[in-house]
Amino acid sequence: MRLYHCLLFIAFFTACGTAKKSSTPVLTPYSYTNQKNITAGKGAVVSAHPLASQAGLLVLQQGGNAVDAAIATQLALAVVYPGAGNIGGGGFLVAHLKDGRNITLDYREKAPAAGHRDMYLDAAGNASTDKSQNGHLAAGVPGTIAGLFASMPYAKLSFEKLITPAILLAEKGFVLTEREARSLNNLQEDLKKYNTQPNAFMKNTPWKAGDTLVQTDLARTLQRVKEKGAAGFYEGETAKLIVAEMQRGKGIITLEDLKKYTAQPREPHVFDYKTYTIVGMPMPSSGGLLLHQMMKMIEPYQISTMGFQSAEAVQLMVEAERRAYADRAEYMGDKDFYPVPEKALAATAYLTDRMKTFTPGKASNSNDIKPGVVPVPEHEETTHLSVIDNEGNAVAVTTTLNGGYGSRTVVGGAGFFLNNEMDDFSIKPGVPNMYGAVGGEANAIKPGKRMLSSMTPTIVLQNNKPYLVVGTPGGTTIPTSVFQTLVNIIEFNLSTIDAVNKPKFHHQWLPDRVDIENDFSSATAIALEMMGYKLYKRGAIGRTEVIKVLPNGKFEAVADKRGDDDARGW
Ligand code: GLY
Repeated sequence: MRLYHCLLFIAFFTACGTAKKSSTPVLTPYSYTNQKNITAGKGAVVSAHPLASQAGLLVLQQGGNAVDAAIATQLALAVVYPGAGNIGGGGFLVAHLKDGRNITLDYREKAPAAGHRDMYLDAAGNASTDKSQNGHLAAGVPGTIAGLFASMPYAKLSFEKLITPAILLAEKGFVLTEREARSLNNLQEDLKKYNTQPNAFMKNTPWKAGDTLVQTDLARTLQRVKEKGAAGFYEGETAKLIVAEMQRGKGIITLEDLKKYTAQPREPHVFDYKTYTIVGMPMPSSGGLLLHQMMKMIEPYQISTMGFQSAEAVQLMVEAERRAYADRAEYMGDKDFYPVPEKALAATAYLTDRMKTFTPGKASNSNDIKPGVVPVPEHEETTHLSVIDNEGNAVAVTTTLNGGYGSRTVVGGAGFFLNNEMDDFSIKPGVPNMYGAVGGEANAIKPGKRMLSSMTPTIVLQNNKPYLVVGTPGGTTIPTSVFQTLVNIIEFNLSTIDAVNKPKFHHQWLPDRVDIENDFSSATAIALEMMGYKLYKRGAIGRTEVIKVLPNGKFEAVADKRGDDDARGW
């Protein structure tokens, strides 16, 4: 049976006629391993799953460009990485195109028309994060499928071709890794709690590495999208299934919400750091502006002479992170609904002024509003992919359901998880969301508004040519992980592998503490404690995927060691 399936996959791609002979394997859903880094000349893809990276690579080999590969990789992730890859969530795309243009696409979820600022408050005014995080009411109107179609004008191949690997993976199945089996086992209780219909992820006996996950309902949904385009999701059968699911669980997304959803091209957030130009996502992601603020706050200091992760360097970066995240809580949100003072927050004079209170060797503190130490979330799930081709296109996409498996509600009969992105709004001023982030009016819920994100898909240019394609999952730790990865490469001259895999740290203003990974230097940790910082040891921060363009023009693609992440190229 397995051999038959392998042959079927190979036959499909051979039948497509254009797959070039290469030592790189074709889609191998029943036998695959991780590849953590590769150097390639024609194109490269890095994503959270080997089969998704393979799907992107196949598309490049079939004559597609980086945008084609990004679309195929996202669709494959929706099948093989259901905890964060998605069609029931949303994301952002940042691209540098071969003609020199920088573009971004916003396909973030929106609040349904029946959403309102107090929808998660009880009669006494108490906030219920249970409702904003779990089950039907936690879901925003999904944006991913609209985003993929909004990407198509920059692609070369047909959508039918780009979606086919995902349909095959859903229909014929793929084998689970150890990590995925464990993750699905941890999900079983929530699946029972938040679903009334059968779905592919529920199982009475534990999932094991090597089990095959077949997603027939999802294959049918993807087939409808293949046949009818975005209307195959936002209208007709799929839309009806989503609304029926909403009705079963007191959710509020309607047929009208779905029909009205559009992805939005946005003006990229661009700034210079030394000799580099950094292209990022504007609102409703805080990522581009936070990265801008943090990079510019450290720029006047000689950080390269302080040494990688010396206490001096970490303190400087932590204080930049603290100040940027304080602004995030107060000022940032969907600028279609709230006047975010982006220019003022990024002005050099303002950022210089912010660092006037920075005292080397002594911790600042964030306690001008009530502190609230919240536990680190168990699942900061989102996923990032970086793609590049030899035509001059580079694409960074970060996409999410918010928490791992989103709301943990699968649309009955349609086979995909709905997001729990409503929790990224500020459901009540000062009430922390699942990442411990607080907010206020700027990020309050309004019908049709997009919730503030931290996703930071980023492209660094040198002489208007791609140099780095970067991004990561990790909730509020996303901008600080991207910040550190850039500083590691640009200032500390770390190899790409070290820049990705060396321990990360994180400060987000509130709670007032520095989160550090378990393998963070204990000498630096002790020095920081002596300066007055509270440290909090935790598990992995992010899963960063980087492509670097080497001086000889080749692409060095590096997948994070922290997961099943995988780099492919040819
Ligand atoms: N849901 C995580 C983010 O958008 O920041």
